[in-house]
Amino acid sequence: MKKVVLAYSGGLDTSCIVRWLRDRGFEVICFVADLGQGLGTGEDLEAIEARALAAGACKIYIRDLQEEFINDFILPSLKAGAIYEGKYLLATALGRPLIAKYLVQIAHKEKADAVAHGCTGKGNDQVRFEVTVGILDPRLEIIAPVREWEFKSREEEIEYAQAHNIPIDVTKKKPYSIDRNIWGISIEAGVLEDIEKEPPEDAYLMTKNPSQMTTYPRYVELYFEKGVPKKLDGKTYKLKTLISHLNEIAGAHGVGRADLVENRLVGIKSREIYEAPAATVLHCAHKELESVVFDRELAHFKEGISQKYAELVYYGLWYSPLKEALDGFVDITQKKVSGSIRLKLFKGNCVAVGRKSAHSLYKKELSTYGKEDTFNQKLSEGFIRIWGMPYKR
Ligand code: ARG
Repeated sequence: MKKVVLAYSGGLDTSCIVRWLRDRGFEVICFVADLGQGLGTGEDLEAIEARALAAGACKIYIRDLQEEFINDFILPSLKAGAIYEGKYLLATALGRPLIAKYLVQIAHKEKADAVAHGCTGKGNDQVRFEVTVGILDPRLEIIAPVREWEFKSREEEIEYAQAHNIPIDVTKKKPYSIDRNIWGISIEAGVLEDIEKEPPEDAYLMTKNPSQMTTYPRYVELYFEKGVPKKLDGKTYKLKTLISHLNEIAGAHGVGRADLVENRLVGIKSREIYEAPAATVLHCAHKELESVVFDRELAHFKEGISQKYAELVYYGLWYSPLKEALDGFVDITQKKVSGSIRLKLFKGNCVAVGRKSAHSLYKKELSTYGKEDTFNQKLSEGFIRIWGMPYKR
């Protein structure tokens, strides 16, 4: 019997996939990656395991990958300032290569012939999974049942699940398609497909409605060392705890929402809304700190790097030579990105209001309009003459 390792979420699609693969002669091993999507208590995990086995899996792996996700995926992208199309902080996109890496690892351990995932044929995630698997082990067969199976609607899948005694909670209406991890949530489909309409409040899960917010702002102070967030409000935390706290704090002030009509890799434009409270605050603070310690040339050049980096993550090219080379560049830029940034969180906004760094290039004696001014204004005359010389007719 052929063996396949399936990226399993515990939901309707991947549960049907287990059975569907078994019916096609595969022994199915399920893999659940915990990236901080809120798998919950031991009981929830037991329920997921029971569902996988009831659907016909022979074995299930559940791995908490949060530390690795944060250190090896989230952190490099934060340092790089990777933001896709000006808004998307890439929570979903960053998780895929990590899940794919473990699919391959487990496939090797289990001597499996194939890996499988539950992505549709219209999205970016299929690309990210398959390109990564192809890079890590091109000999593994890749199966994407949703691209080829017979079901045309959620109702048909529910019927199939019920006919095969797969325990599925069908009472839960699913108005949206949601992907969640510790770095943020992606929400699409349903009424969100009408791009003329504002998303309903019930689409948001991590952030409070900014227009129903207290009249008091919340200030937070973040301390970075070489581009890595170390302290929140003066207290040292492990990154995972720091991110979780920030998700709570910023989410409570409605910070981190984005509404984006984005260009997918497969050529489709799609509307997705995002919530990434901690990621929004951290990107904002990190960028602000860079603005204080970077010289102009480095600051402007890195903007281009940030955009390219975001594209590579979005396009599923995490394990590519260019991405590795950019990491090398980014790490060198981070040597002096140490210091504190104070931010004001208020009614959905996150604004830097204070900066402090031992490597600050800001010199008040040069920029001041007060009497401590040391800038020699006479020198500007010659500078301008030479600077403008090539353009004079
Ligand atoms: N558009 C995002 C991306 O390509 C998220 C995709 C998954 N979204 C979802 N709601 N399931 O990274």
